[in-house]
Amino acid sequence: MRIYLTGFMGCGKTSVGRRLARRLGVEFVDLDEEVERMAGMTVRQIFESQGEPAFRQMEAEALRGTLAMPDVVVATGGGTMAFEANAGLIGANGLAVWINPAFATIAARIGGRGKSDRPLFKNESQALALYRERLPAYRRADLIMDVAPKEGPEEIAARIALRLGSSGI
Ligand code: S3P
Repeated sequence: MRIYLTGFMGCGKTSVGRRLARRLGVEFVDLDEEVERMAGMTVRQIFESQGEPAFRQMEAEALRGTLAMPDVVVATGGGTMAFEANAGLIGANGLAVWINPAFATIAARIGGRGKSDRPLFKNESQALALYRERLPAYRRADLIMDVAPKEGPEEIAARIALRLGSSGI
């Protein structure tokens, strides 16, 4: 089974994804890391030197690459699901899980470092507008995991594994 973790920047896709993959005994792929590997530079550098459309193309390519893996947990980027072609591909080939903490939790978590790593998190009010714009895309996920403010990645991964098990997927 392919599991695609989705949600806004800083929601925990990567940290939960690694733990979930370990629990399920499958490989883990982080789309941002794949793009950085393909490009030989950081996401921020790609945005700065080639622009967002180039990044989106690489992101879509990295996403297509996951189809070669029958069993995998994939941490998507915060914007991946917002593009119809990506959402369609995920819907047809895997299960989307939305990791959904409150925006206040996300904003508190994305400190100085997170901001500098993330070209699309410029400040809190801009990020809130982007978050709201993307909610309909995240809501299309097959499984919605509401996350409490202090809940850690291991607990979230455990809850996802439990839900996957009990839904018989
Ligand atoms: C983006 C989120 C980032 C990364 C890029 C664009 C977005 O991933 O893909 O900076 O459009 O929200 P994370 O959600 O892992 O921070």
